[in-house]
Formats: sequence, C-alpha cells, structure tokens
Amino acid sequence: MIVIKDHVFTLHTRRTSYQMKADAYRVLLHTYYGARVGDADLSYPIRYADRGFSPNPSEAGDWREYSLDTLPQEYSSCGVGDYRIPSLELEPQDGSHLADLRCIGYERRSGKYALEGLPAFFGGEEWETLVVFLEDAAAHVGVELYYGVLEERDLITRAVRVVNKGDKPVRLRRAASLCLDFDGGDWDFVTFDGCHVMERCPHRTPLRHGVQSVGSVRGTSSHHHNPFVMLCAHDAAEDHGLCYGAMLLYSGNFEAAAERTHLENNRLVMGINPYHFCYTLAPGEAFTTPEAALVCSPDGFAPMTHQYHRAIREHLIRDPLKGTRRPVLINNWEATEFHFDAEKLVEIAQGAVGLGIEMFVMDDGWFGSRDTDLSGLGDWSVNLKKLPGGLEALVPRIQALGMKFGLWVEPEMVSEDSALYRAHPDWALGVPGRPQTRGRSQLVLDFTREDVRDYICKAMCQVLDSADISYIKWDMNRSLSDVWSAALPPDRQGEAYHRYVLGLYEVLERLRTRYPDLFIEGCSGGGGRFDAGMLYYTPQIWCSDNTDAVDRLRIQYGTSFCYPASTMGAHVSAVPNGQTGHATPMETRGVVAMSGTFGYEMDLGTVTGEERETIARQVQQYKEHWDLVESGDYYRLSSPFDEGPYTAWAHVAPDRRRALVSLVTGTMHAAPPFSTLRLKGLDPDLCYRVNGKESYRGDVLMQVGYPVPILLNDYQSMQLVLEAE
Ligand code: GLA
Repeated sequence: MIVIKDHVFTLHTRRTSYQMKADAYRVLLHTYYGARVGDADLSYPIRYADRGFSPNPSEAGDWREYSLDTLPQEYSSCGVGDYRIPSLELEPQDGSHLADLRCIGYERRSGKYALEGLPAFFGGEEWETLVVFLEDAAAHVGVELYYGVLEERDLITRAVRVVNKGDKPVRLRRAASLCLDFDGGDWDFVTFDGCHVMERCPHRTPLRHGVQSVGSVRGTSSHHHNPFVMLCAHDAAEDHGLCYGAMLLYSGNFEAAAERTHLENNRLVMGINPYHFCYTLAPGEAFTTPEAALVCSPDGFAPMTHQYHRAIREHLIRDPLKGTRRPVLINNWEATEFHFDAEKLVEIAQGAVGLGIEMFVMDDGWFGSRDTDLSGLGDWSVNLKKLPGGLEALVPRIQALGMKFGLWVEPEMVSEDSALYRAHPDWALGVPGRPQTRGRSQLVLDFTREDVRDYICKAMCQVLDSADISYIKWDMNRSLSDVWSAALPPDRQGEAYHRYVLGLYEVLERLRTRYPDLFIEGCSGGGGRFDAGMLYYTPQIWCSDNTDAVDRLRIQYGTSFCYPASTMGAHVSAVPNGQTGHATPMETRGVVAMSGTFGYEMDLGTVTGEERETIARQVQQYKEHWDLVESGDYYRLSSPFDEGPYTAWAHVAPDRRRALVSLVTGTMHAAPPFSTLRLKGLDPDLCYRVNGKESYRGDVLMQVGYPVPILLNDYQSMQLVLEAE
C-alpha cells in the first residue's frame, strides 16, 4: 500500500514499511526502511548539526546544520556536498561533473511498471507503482525514481530513468539502480563470492569505515561475485534479526558498494558498475537503469529467502512449463565431452530407457568442426561426420526411445578457427590495431551490433526449425575483454558493455517470442551468470560446472539465499568426481541434485544393474516430491560451512502438511556424537508421519528434533518425508 501525505511517501508491504520525504528544500530524504509501522512522518529522529567540512546547499543560506553530507538521501547526488557514494554522476557539455536533485512531483499507478528491453518483475493488480520525479534544473536532467510494491511478498523494486530535458547532449557517468541510507546502526555486509566451479559462497563481514564493495567488470555478473547482497544486524541469523536483501536484475558489470561514514551512517548503492561506463543522452533521450529488488525481513534470513523465492517464481520467471514438472534430463557432457557420434549418443539415451528419464540433452561438440574447444563456435550447422543425417535423423531416434530432445549452444561466441570468423573477423569484440585476448581459446561476438544479433537469431532459428527441439542450454564460456564496438563512435565506447547486455536480452526475447514453448537453461561455465536478470529469460540456470555432491552443498546453500531451488540446474554425475576426486555414494548425489532441477550427467549406457535400480528409484522420488522442491518454502537447517556433522535443509509445502528433509554427513570420525535435527516451518499443532513410520507433533520436531541415526562412512545421506496425518 502506498500512502502519500504532506510530501511523505510511505510504501507498506505486509511486514515492512519504506519511507521517504521531500523536505523544505525539496531534497528527497530517506526516512525509514524496516518492520511495518504506521504512516507517520518518520523524519523526526533526523538530527541537524553543524559538522565540520560538511557544506550547505545554497538554499540553506547560513543554516550550517543542513548538509547533504549528513542527511539520509533517497538517491544520492554528486559534487554538491554529499561525499558519500553517489547514485548519479552527470556530465553536461560544459564538462562539469555534478548531480543536484530536487523533487518536482510524483505519480501513483496501480499495477507494476515495465522496463523496455530490460528484465523486470511483472504482475497485475497485486502491484502498486510510485514514480517520484526529481530534477537537476541546471543540467536540465530529469530523474524518475520508480518503485514497485508487491505487498504480499514484502518486495520493493526500484529502477531509475534519467531523461535529458535540455537541448544539448549530457553524459551519464553513473546511474545506480538503488541507494539505501541508514542513519546509524551496526551492520554486517553479506556477499556471495567464489570462482568457476565454486560459486556463491557467503561471506559476512562487519561494515567498517570507508567503502566495501563487490562487483564485476567481466561483462557478465560473474562466478566471482553475485549481484545479490545483504545487510543485516550483527546478531541476525536464519530465524531472527533484521536483514535486508538487495538484488540486481542485471547480467553484466555491476557494483554493490556499502559505506560506513565518519558519523556512523551507512549507505548501500547498487547498479551498473561505473567502470568503463559512460552513456550519452541526446536531447530528449532517456536511460533506464536495471531493476533492483529489495526485501526486508525483521525476522532473519529464512523469511527473506521465502519472499524472494515466491516473488521470483510468481513474478519473474516466465516458465513455459509453469505449473507442470520440468523433465528429468540426461546430458552427455561429462560422459563424452567432445568425443561422440550419433551411435554413442543413442547408446546413452538407450541406457536412460526404463529409468523414468524424460529428455536427452546433446551438449557441446555437435556442430561445425567442434572436435575440441579450439574450433567451431559460430558455425551452427550440424557436424555430419559425427551425426550423419543431422538433427533430422538423430532427434526422431531419441524421441522413439520416449524422450524429448535438448541441445547445447553458445551463441555469443566465435572460434577463430570457424567459417564465421573467417567471413566476419570484425564481428568479434576487439580494438582495431590491438591483438585480441582469448578466453578458452575463443572470442566474443559483438552483441552491440544489430547485424551480429540478426545473424545469430537466424542461425538459432535454423537449428530450432530443423527438428523437434524442446530445450536449449544457452552457454557462455568466457569473460569479456577488449571491449570496443564497431557499432559505436569513439566517444560512445563507454556504452559498449551495457549495450552488449541489452543485445543479449534482445536476442533471448526474440527467441522466446518465436518459440514460446522452448525451455531455455542459462549457463556460463556453470554459474557464471546466475542472476535474476537471466532468470527472466532462462527459468533455470546450470548452477555450477562442479557436480561434486559435497561442494554442491556449499554452492546450492549460498545460491538458496535468494534464488529458488527450481532455478538451480543440478545433476547426478559419475564418481570419482572430475573436480574433486570425491567418490560420494550415488544416494547422496541424488539427494543433493534433487534440491534443484534434476537430471543426470553420466554414461547411462554403461551403468550397472544396481546403479540402474538406484537411478530409477531416485527419478521416481523426484517425481513424487517435485512440487515441494518447486513451490515449497526452503529452510536451511544447518550450514555446510560450519564444522557440524552434517548439512541439512528442508522444503516445506505452503500449507505445511508435507515436507522433504534432506541431510548429508561430512567425513566420519570414530565415536560420533548423537545428534538431533531440529526442523523448521512445520505446523506446531499437526502430527507428522515420518517416512511412513513413527509420527511426531510439529512442535516436537521443531523444538526437540528428530534423532539422526549414526550414518557410518563419509558423505552419507538421509531423506525424511513428512506427511501430516
Ligand atoms: C561449459 C558448461 C558445461 C559444458 C561445457 C561444454 O563449461 O558449463 O556444462 O556444457 O561448457 O563445453
């Protein structure tokens, strides 16, 4: 609910309130964000004091106590007395570098605003929109702050539109999506960091004086830092304590910077990374930032997680399979890498028959001269030596075995050893006169160029039209470098990184429109572009190239803080694992993969009788419980980063009548202590039958716990299915 009274704008969600106020000088102050309160003006605790070296805007005259440097700002200015992180940096033609914003109006709308060419949460009447209009009068620049309020999900989205209202061009050096000021408070900054094959591990540090930031300058959101961060009270944990999540719906360079000031105030700014960003707005033109999405939870991380999960599932993912189960798939990559032919693929697919597996995915290596990762990218025609008769021949053979067919593609890339590169060397990103930097021996196609995007769309359509293809895995296997676009003049090269991302979104949207039933899984060397922006186009993302069940506990734990299990591609693969050498039991690999979108990544043509039985059982279990994984509330019951004896988590049905609890042990030591697993999210008054045997009341399972049996050996697992009686 949005309440507007005397220049005070209050956005209420079910459990939280957010407030800003245009003060006497029309400066938009941020006055509150936290647990739900009434509509009163909450600017009263703001203290005005003359602080040395904190200057005063001209309107304030000699009122030295009034300074933008000390007041909480809704969207911070630059160069006019606020020395904290700016949200906006403008560069008009006079070469100045200021942004001085005053409120000039507002508009309230029912429903949710949309952002052209950018991913955004969507929905109908359950949303309200507020637009607050600011202006830098001297620069003739308008700044529109968009707020989307999804009351039931405690979600507040934000985006900013910067409009050049003058008659000369203006350059944007920075345009953040979100600024969040807190007067006082001691916060921890939580970020989700890692690397290829070990993504999104949470790190929590007290906010110290100065600026702490994470971000990406790799052209993608990256394996290294995720565009989701949290601020939380020092004592916040899963079930208690104030915490804030901030998510950016963007798949390119981003920055999330938190600052603690000399006055013990705190600021979080999040948006496109200002590195190599400079966007020219001609008179009348506008720039729209990516969307940011905030959830505040007064009661710890778990409620924040649930609200993000629900909002993403209901209002971000455009899943062609919404409401129905996604097919259990078998992917040939780890089994064969590039070394396969049609007969080998059919052998793997035949191995899947009778196991309940529903889709076969042919991974990298099926096209052009792609026998290694040195060649072939860009040539999206079937390698007829490997697949005689092409997809037209292979797909019906797979379908005859009762499976749908899926395909790997990496459309943003080109190998120098390819017909495409030989014909269009200038289509790859690179600065004329400089040697190009290779990554995985490949170059990146310049998606800022319309001709390149058109070519790739056409090539993809040719492939998709050639056979009955239900799914594609859209991969992207390197970071950007040598970013320079032939489509842009020299003084607009600072737009190239962003225009690349817009180009990617455009191509994905064109494919989605043309093939509404096509299911697209995102991938970038696993989870190198696992962000909410991509989820708008690709409803699931391959979580990591690391399929080791033990490491996956960590990766999936970190990912779960804001991204739902139904978005995490997770497969059972062969052991010893290629990344770690771990030989975890098949059962355990199944338990871990079942907390994502389930599948297999092994040579099913060679699995033994006993393993086949296990696989068939696992697939059956997944099919029985998929609705819990898809739409249940996710509870982290323990952390894989702790020294504890096990990692446990649960998916609890929205009506709390069913739950699937999973537990995986670490390395075993003699004389293990007895442990009891306290569950969460159950109905205290209901009685639950556990695995069809004993029954316990919900309050007992939550307060006293379930006695965990001693599981001998390393990396054992256990699943409990709870059903209310
Ligand atoms: C990336 C993906 C893998 C696989 C390979 C193929 O690394 O993450 O799953 O598809 O590319 O080259």
